[in-house]
Amino acid sequence: MKVLNTYSDFNLWRKGLSEQAISKGVGFVPTMGALHLGHASLLTKSLNENSVTVLSIYVNPTQFNNLEDLKKYPITLAEDLELAKNLGVDVVFVPTYEEIYPDNYKFKVIENDFSLSLCGANRPGHFNGVLTVVMKLLNIIQPQRAYFGEKDFQQLMLIKSMVQAFFMQVEIVACPTMREKNGLARSSRNTRLSEVDKEKAAIIYKAIVSNQPIEKIRKCIEDEGFSVEYLVDFLGRRYIAVDVHGVRLIDNVNITKK
Ligand code: PAJ
Repeated sequence: MKVLNTYSDFNLWRKGLSEQAISKGVGFVPTMGALHLGHASLLTKSLNENSVTVLSIYVNPTQFNNLEDLKKYPITLAEDLELAKNLGVDVVFVPTYEEIYPDNYKFKVIENDFSLSLCGANRPGHFNGVLTVVMKLLNIIQPQRAYFGEKDFQQLMLIKSMVQAFFMQVEIVACPTMREKNGLARSSRNTRLSEVDKEKAAIIYKAIVSNQPIEKIRKCIEDEGFSVEYLVDFLGRRYIAVDVHGVRLIDNVNITKK
């Protein structure tokens, strides 16, 4: 497994691949590291569907509107590389800020509609940061397929729209949300929860899949002592963000099957 840190090193490797070596395509899984079984499921899907799989690990500062949240983001690079190697990932791209933002973020991708609601409402600029880094990474990696989790459904929808809007030659593959046994969506942020809160936070998923009215769902979660940032049904999907004693968790479910 190769670990590459610069655009030029990555380009050299990418250009050196023969047509035959990538006959089934290049698959790409962008992440911010602190890898868990959710990320692993994306990597496994890519490994099954492509000749070559690239993983990127980059904690993108432009998508954090809160410096404290950025500082607290877990970094576990050694373990991440071990997991990637065991899965059979071909290349891990681990760039610096200077490599990704040679322009110091003078250029950005701005979406003026869906990005302003839900996770974007209380985090101004969050999705501009996400869309910009994803466009840059897709331009560097040049994959045939890129894998994103339904766990971040609003992000997935926005990335699909961006790819359409800019005629980008990549297939965006949606992957189902991986959960803990108790139903809690797996997240790098779960490591910041106490054992008690990790158990209690299972209420989030249990409540949103229940058939109860939305106000009852909100109350159910607030009764656990958590504060609900938003709980919205939109285009067949129920979205939620909850503050679990300082740790912000998000989840969503399909509500059209009911
Ligand atoms: P990160 O939170 O590391 O997530 C990387 C990818 O893993 C995303 O596509 C996310 O939806 C997916 N993922 C996370 N938890 C998951 C779970 N429990 N089940 C299935 N998939 C899961 O999302 C980002 O990083 C960043 O915004 C990024 C796209 C890398 C841009 O910086």
